[in-house]
Amino acid sequence: MTIDQTIYAQRRARLLEKMQRGIAIIPTAPEVARNGDTHYEYRYDSNFYYLSGFTEPEAVLVLVSGQDGQSQPQSILFCREKNPEREVWDGYRAGPDAAKEQFGFDVAYSIAQLDEKLVELMGDQTALHYPLGRDAEWDQRILKLRGAVQAKVRSGIRAPNEIHDVRTLLNEMRLFKDEHELAIMRRAAKISTQAHRRAMQFACPDQFEYQIEAELLHEFCRHGARHPAYPSIVAGGANACVLHYVGNDAILKDGDLLLIDAGCELDGYASDITRSYPVNGRFSAAQKDVYEIVLAAQAAAIAAAQPGNSWDMPHDAALRVLAQGFIDLKLCQGNVDTVLESESYKRFYMHRTGHWLGMDVHDVGDYKIGADWRALQPGMVFTVEPGCYICPADDVPPALWNIGIRIEDDVAITAQGNEVLSAAAPKAVAEIEALMK
Ligand code: GLY
Ligand code: MN
Ligand code: MN
Repeated sequence: MTIDQTIYAQRRARLLEKMQRGIAIIPTAPEVARNGDTHYEYRYDSNFYYLSGFTEPEAVLVLVSGQDGQSQPQSILFCREKNPEREVWDGYRAGPDAAKEQFGFDVAYSIAQLDEKLVELMGDQTALHYPLGRDAEWDQRILKLRGAVQAKVRSGIRAPNEIHDVRTLLNEMRLFKDEHELAIMRRAAKISTQAHRRAMQFACPDQFEYQIEAELLHEFCRHGARHPAYPSIVAGGANACVLHYVGNDAILKDGDLLLIDAGCELDGYASDITRSYPVNGRFSAAQKDVYEIVLAAQAAAIAAAQPGNSWDMPHDAALRVLAQGFIDLKLCQGNVDTVLESESYKRFYMHRTGHWLGMDVHDVGDYKIGADWRALQPGMVFTVEPGCYICPADDVPPALWNIGIRIEDDVAITAQGNEVLSAAAPKAVAEIEALMK
């Protein structure tokens, strides 16, 4: 595996610059037992990977600013040692020497030396930058090691007297995707659009939802995206009105809609796409009425996703279209302003229109700066996902019962406007019907 060391080295340098002083300690994620001696599929910590490119478990990244005590900035990796016997059973481990060379760290040590070295490295550092609160065991360990440094006070060594959550700096860095990240996200979105196309071609009455899920996973995996970025939602009929439905075990019925919210993770980056369409490939009049409203709401939101516009403008644009649509469908009474004011639309549209997208499907980054929604800027990537979910009720026209529709795309803000990364998944009624024929 060749790693572009400079990408990660530059990110580490930027973090060190933002930290100004002190030491950062960033452990990767632990392995988690599933049952017996089997683990859940391993997923590294996003921040750790963002700064290192290193994917093995049992590893810690330490960055020393070089401003306090130490003579120069340093990137230090702690990782598992080579172990020929374990490698026969569990596979390759880089070991500190190869990891240092391959990933471009200044120094690498065995993870077994972590405690001893951290006590040394924390000595005389003014500030400790650490993801406090992410993992209780790590919190205890790091605070105990800081205590061990404090115990050396009579030798003239001081412990860091400030602790900062390093995620405040990292979240802001990760919010702006660089070209390397955008290229991966484009590929992830492309694979997911191919999976959605495949699902559309396979869907038909009397299949189980999980049979469609299998087609999605097949398409992800065969393009090298071995894992979904989140549990796939394959929801037929009334199941589409359950926002986080993941049962995926019901039979798809002729005449019902199917909502699929699925996206792969590729090289640590998520895609997140939803399409909704009829199981039998032909929209009924009522399904089409609701669908066109959601599609128009999405178009309005994407049009509002422009550099300089504030975060809530796409949401507000979608809401106005949905509110008018709900009035036209006799789901809400009044005019657009009173529907928005009274929030009566929330009975049929209860979530927001999007979220940041990146290494985490609901990615990091603040949505407000102070009291105000922040301005959209090039490099930000987020979803645009309006929907409409209609549960049966006496005051709702029966033709609309159990219609659940969401249309979700992944959008990157560019200098000129935006780029819809997931545009290749069909969403116009005619396009969907043609593909499903
Ligand atoms: N798939 C999770 C979401 O759409 O937010
Ligand atoms: Mn989403
Ligand atoms: Mn989604």
